[in-house]
Amino acid sequence: MDHLLMNTRPLFSLTYHAIFLLFLSLLISKFSLATTLSNETDKLALLEFKSHIDSPLNVLASWNDSFHFCHWVGVTCGNQHQRVIGLDLKNKKLVGTISPYIGNLSFLQSLDLASNSFHGGIPSEVGYLTRLRNLNLSYNPILGGEIPVNLSHCSNLQYLDLKYNDLERGIPSELGFLSKLQILILRNNHLNGRFPPSIGNLSSLQNLSFVYNNLEGEIPNTVAQMKSLTYFHVGINHFSDTLDRSKPIYRNHSSFIVQCLRHSHA
Ligand SMILES: *[C@@H]1O[C@H](CO)[C@@H](O)[C@H](O)[C@H]1NC(C)=O
Ligand SMILES: *[C@@H]1O[C@H](CO)[C@@H](O)[C@H](O)[C@H]1NC(C)=O
Ligand SMILES: *[C@@H]1O[C@H](CO)[C@@H](O)[C@H](O)[C@H]1NC(C)=O
Ligand SMILES: *[C@@H]1O[C@H](CO)[C@@H](O)[C@H](O)[C@H]1NC(C)=O
Ligand SMILES: *[C@@H]1O[C@H](CO)[C@@H](O)[C@H](O)[C@H]1NC(C)=O
Ligand SMILES: *[C@@H]1O[C@H](CO)[C@@H](O)[C@H](O)[C@H]1NC(C)=O
Ligand SMILES: *[C@@H]1O[C@H](CO)[C@@H](O)[C@H](O)[C@H]1NC(C)=O
Repeated sequence: MDHLLMNTRPLFSLTYHAIFLLFLSLLISKFSLATTLSNETDKLALLEFKSHIDSPLNVLASWNDSFHFCHWVGVTCGNQHQRVIGLDLKNKKLVGTISPYIGNLSFLQSLDLASNSFHGGIPSEVGYLTRLRNLNLSYNPILGGEIPVNLSHCSNLQYLDLKYNDLERGIPSELGFLSKLQILILRNNHLNGRFPPSIGNLSSLQNLSFVYNNLEGEIPNTVAQMKSLTYFHVGINHFSDTLDRSKPIYRNHSSFIVQCLRHSHA
């Protein structure tokens, strides 16, 4: 029994060492992969994004190898890591689609492509942007498709502005997970279906505008839970609400709800 133990001990310690070394080398390779690949991934993502866009004003001319991508027009990088934290190309007369590669800009905090002619849809890869605080795709009049459910993974989102697009289908109830959301502007689209009751979970929400869509059903009582709400604009839809003052939403938010309901029957 004793010599049996003696025999197994070196074997055990050998496998232990092997496993430890394997673990260590995996850790090192993973670490070096992460540090060398990351800024190159940002560059590739930007070039892929550019390749799906026409720019009659040649706005993206500087997006070439003569400059580091941190100096490309519209690109902002973080000081420490040289990773893209902002992409601001609003009002540049850009025509094209939004590449799914945008989801690889993993340090992105602000994406502003407002007032252009992007078409196609919003890629669900946007949901990989967990540091995103501001998403503004407003005034892209033929940007269609649906609001991607995966947008609800952008847990740091504070401003979501998708007004004056061509978005259709329902408002994903998962948007109710965006606990830091302060501004939710979906006005002037072709959204239909109901007002998701989960929106009432957005306790940081200040401005909500769903005006000019095809929403129907009742405005849920959960709206009354939104303590930060100061601007609530939902008229010009097909809501069935009548002015039932016993409903909590009218008690808590009477000043603006009455006004918005007048709109919805106009
Ligand atoms: C990415 O980072 C590595 C290591 O810091 C550096 O050698 C390389 O030039 C960088 N590439 C770009 C495109 O910034
Ligand atoms: C890169 O862009 C700049 C500014 O538009 C231009 O002057 C330069 O010739 C370009 N370089 C290349 C290699 O295309
Ligand atoms: C980036 O995103 C695209 C499309 O979403 C994907 O195919 C690609 O493998 C991603 N990764 C890198 C490192 O570019
Ligand atoms: C969307 O989210 C689901 C999980 O909810 C995930 O499995 C999927 O890979 C995501 N797709 C994209 C394109 O982001
Ligand atoms: C989104 O962009 C439009 C157009 O530039 C601007 O008017 C609007 O204020 C922006 N929205 C937010 C929430 O910043
Ligand atoms: C969000 O709201 C829905 C419907 O109002 C509710 O059922 C759900 O429990 C809420 N979730 C969280 C995480 O608060
Ligand atoms: C939010 O609502 C306030 C009025 O309560 C308004 O002054 C402000 O411009 C709105 N902001 C946005 C981004 O819509």
